[in-house]
Amino acid sequence: MTARAALTLAADAVEATEAVGRRLGRLLAPGDVVALVGDLGAGKTAFVRGLAAGLDVPSHVVASPTFTMVAEYPGGRLPLFHIDLYRLDPGAADLPVLDEYVHGAGVTAIEWSDRLPPGALDAGLTVRIDYADPGRRLTFEGRGARAASLVAVLASGT
Ligand SMILES: Nc1ncnc2c1ncn2[C@@H]1O[C@H](COP(=O)(O)OP(=O)(O)O)[C@@H](O)[C@H]1O
Ligand SMILES: [Mg+2]
Repeated sequence: MTARAALTLAADAVEATEAVGRRLGRLLAPGDVVALVGDLGAGKTAFVRGLAAGLDVPSHVVASPTFTMVAEYPGGRLPLFHIDLYRLDPGAADLPVLDEYVHGAGVTAIEWSDRLPPGALDAGLTVRIDYADPGRRLTFEGRGARAASLVAVLASGT
């Protein structure tokens, strides 16, 4: 049976979204993949800014890589690869660059991961960000032992 864990957190303001990202960032290890799903302006990039802080990447370098699709942020505890698939053609069969990053020596965060065809990414950890009043609602889903344990640690609040 595949291990699974889920968690929903409220984030009243952008600082709260970043703070949760920072907590997750501190827990991440080489090869971890964080898939981010949510509408434009939901806070995916804000969350990645938090991840970067948790990895000790200088956070001022984090912006939306929409026009480059992939940005690499060195200088932290681990390299962070920040991918944004907003402009991925719907129906694109695959994203060749993905393999270069995912499950490699760094951590990979993928905005708009739901634009990938089913099965193209076996990311265990998905963060969905929804608009809420006030702020946002962050829903974490971990599939597989590694991702489920990350969600469990987040849920424990430590
Ligand atoms: N609770 C919140 N969490 C995240 N962003 C928020 C929140 N409240 C307001 N915002 C604002 O929403 C915007 C999110 O932008 P961004 O992170 O670039 O979204 P995305 O990458 O999902 O398109 C920012 O302007 C941010 O200040
Ligand atoms: Mg973004």
